[in-house]
Amino acid sequence: MELRGASALVTGAGRGIGRAIALALGRAGASVTGVARTASELESLASEIQRAGGRAASYTGDVRDPAVCAGAIARARLVNNAGVGAHAPVAETTDDQWQRILDTNLTAVFRLTRAALPDLTQGGGHVFMISSLAGANPIAGMAAYCASKAALDHFAACLMLEVRSQGVKVTTLAPGSVDTGFGGESRSGDASWMLRGDDVAATVLDLLRTRDDALLSRVEMRPLRPARRP
Ligand SMILES: NC(=O)c1ccc[n+]([C@@H]2O[C@H](COP(=O)([O-])OP(=O)(O)OC[C@H]3O[C@@H](n4cnc5c(N)ncnc54)[C@H](OP(=O)(O)O)[C@@H]3O)[C@@H](O)[C@H]2O)c1
Repeated sequence: MELRGASALVTGAGRGIGRAIALALGRAGASVTGVARTASELESLASEIQRAGGRAASYTGDVRDPAVCAGAIARARLVNNAGVGAHAPVAETTDDQWQRILDTNLTAVFRLTRAALPDLTQGGGHVFMISSLAGANPIAGMAAYCASKAALDHFAACLMLEVRSQGVKVTTLAPGSVDTGFGGESRSGDASWMLRGDDVAATVLDLLRTRDDALLSRVEMRPLRPARRP
């Protein structure tokens, strides 16, 4: 798939994995629209892409808002990356936490993807779902997050079966631990064993460059040497 001149919409592009993906796409010649709630982070991303000679635009908004999904509307390559999590046992998970996680990680992906489909099925395109190994592997204390990613995996697989014959690729990318500030947590200790946002971004670019008639529908990524759990 030719990236130069192509358009890409990346949610959660302000920092972490989404920022790395947006930068990599911009540097590869795609015109990138970043979506997130923090305008200053999107502006800094757009400047960095422009300094590298690329084209970038920002769309500030909350993907849980249906009007934002419709307004940000999607371009030929859609990267559903924005995601949130929480550490809480089920007994202590509040309705608000549950709703925030499911609305961001699942419902917004559904709305954005649905809005993008007319363009995608007309012109061909590639939808990336940034899931997590937590979608396939249960983690005690993260039920809402794991459930949202498990549902996302299944949603993506159904979508892939629906649209592949129309020339639309759908790839679920499921990383393990990535060194970002995910969940607002500051990492304590050595994070050098973790994946980096750039690893995920490089994989997105590799996947976009696969032959037009070949589809990698699910990719799992993990650190080679995970830290031993205490
Ligand atoms: N880090 C990991 O270890 C890891 C592992 C596997 C999978 N993942 C997945 O990778 C994705 C990105 O994670 P990350 O580690 O890069 O997270 P991050 O550093 O916390 O960044 C998340 C991005 O999403 C945006 N975002 C969150 N909620 C949003 C909302 N309601 N509307 C619009 N934008 C929103 C944030 O911007 P604003 O707050 O400004 O809106 C931010 O730009 C997530 O789907 C996560 O589940 C992460």
